[in-house]
Amino acid sequence: MTRPIRKILTVVGARPQFIKSAPVSLAIRQAGLQEVMVHTGQHYDANMSEVFFEQLKLMRPQYPLEIGSGSHAYQTGEGLKQLEGIIRQEAPDAVLVYGDTNATIAGALAAVKIHVPVAHIEAGLRSFNRRMPEEVNRVVTDHVSSWLFAPTDLAVANLRNEGITQGVFKVGDVMLDAAELFLSQAESMGSGLFDRHQLQPRDYILLTLHRAETTDTPEQVHRVLRALDRQGMPVLFPTHPRVRPLVQSLAGLRNIRFVEPLSYLEMLQAEKHAQAIVTDSGGVQKEAAFFSIPCITLREQTEWVETVESGWNRLVGLCEDKLVEALGSLQTPSQSIVHLYGDRQASRAIVDVLASQPPLWFE
Ligand code: UD1
Ligand code: UDP
Repeated sequence: MTRPIRKILTVVGARPQFIKSAPVSLAIRQAGLQEVMVHTGQHYDANMSEVFFEQLKLMRPQYPLEIGSGSHAYQTGEGLKQLEGIIRQEAPDAVLVYGDTNATIAGALAAVKIHVPVAHIEAGLRSFNRRMPEEVNRVVTDHVSSWLFAPTDLAVANLRNEGITQGVFKVGDVMLDAAELFLSQAESMGSGLFDRHQLQPRDYILLTLHRAETTDTPEQVHRVLRALDRQGMPVLFPTHPRVRPLVQSLAGLRNIRFVEPLSYLEMLQAEKHAQAIVTDSGGVQKEAAFFSIPCITLREQTEWVETVESGWNRLVGLCEDKLVEALGSLQTPSQSIVHLYGDRQASRAIVDVLASQPPLWFE
C-alpha cells in the first residue's frame, strides 16, 4: 500500500514551465498539499525567469540550481546530479515535471531511479521528429512516468500507440488554465505595449522563434525575416536570447520591431490582438488557437496537430514563399477549437488524480 500524496517536488527551468506551474501550484495549495520548487536555472535572464515569478506571483524556488546554458549533456547531467541529492533529502511522494525541456528529463530520470514516482504534465505529445531534442525528452519522460497527464485525445492515442495505457489521464491543458487565470489582468494593463511599439490592434503580426532547428540555418531565418518585412505590416518580434546573435547582423528592415522577450501578461495582450501569429513555439501555436488567431508555424511538423487539422494553423517550414502565400490567404475557420484543450480546470483535475490514484509501479 502506498501512502497518500502529501508532498510534491516540482522541477522547472525554462520560461514555459514557469507559466504552466502558476495554475498547478495554485491547485496544489488549494488542496492543502505541500510543494517544494526546484528551478534548474536553464533560463536565467531577468526577462526569461524573474519576470514570471514576480508578475505571476509564483512560489519562489527553495532550490535555485543555477545550472545555466550549455550542451544537452551538461544541462541534463548537471540537473540529474543535483536533483538526486535534493530528492533524497526532501523525500517527496511524487516529482512533478512539465513539458519537454532538459529540466523535464533530468527531473524524471533522477526521481524514477531512486524510486520516487514521476507525474508528467503535457504527456503524450509527439512531433515524430527525433532530431528535436524535445521529442527525445518527451518520449523518455513518458516512458518512466507513473501519472501521465495528457492534454488532448490525440496525446492519449500517441501514448497508446507506444503501449502506454496505464496511469494515463486526459485532463486538458494547463496552459489554457494559465491563460484563463491571467487574461483579465493582461487586458486591464491598458494600451502601453501597443503605444510603445506604435501598433494598432489587429494590424500587426506577432512573431516568435527560438527553436534550435530554426536558428541552425541563419541564412534561411534571414530570408524569412526579410520576406515578413516586405509585407508592409508591422511585426512585433520579442526576441528570445538564442535568436539575438542571429538578428544582430540584419540591417535595413523597416517593419519588424525587435523587442526584448515580453512578460506573460504582455504576451497574452500581444497574442489576443494580433492579426496573425508566426512562430516556431509549441506554446504560442496553442495560445493562438485559444484566442482564435490564425497561426503560421515555421516548422515542418507540430506536436499540436489539432491546430493544423482544424485550419487554424499552417505549417510552412522555413520557406519564405510558403510563408508569404500563407499570409496572403489567412484562414479563420468558423469554429473555435478551444474546447479541445479541456474545461480550464486541468490543474485541479491533475491534483485530484495525484491525491486519489496510486502511482503505477509503486503500489
Ligand atoms: C529551451 C528548451 C525548449 C523550450 C525553450 C523555451 C530544451 C532542450 N529546450 O530552449 O524546449 O521551447 O527552452 O523557451 O530544453 N540564453 C540566455 N539567457 C537565458 C536563457 C538562454 O542568454 O536566460 C541563451 C544562451 O545562449 C543559451 C541559448 O539561449 O545557450 C539557448 O537556451 P536553452 O535553454 O539551451 O534553449 P532554448 O532555446 O531556450
Ligand atoms: N512567452 C512570453 N514572452 C515572450 C514569448 C513567449 O511570456 O516573449 C510565453 C508564451 O505566451 C507561452 C510561453 O512563453 O506561454 C511559450 O514559451 P516558449 O515559446 O519559450 O517555449 P515553447 O512553448 O516552444 O516550449
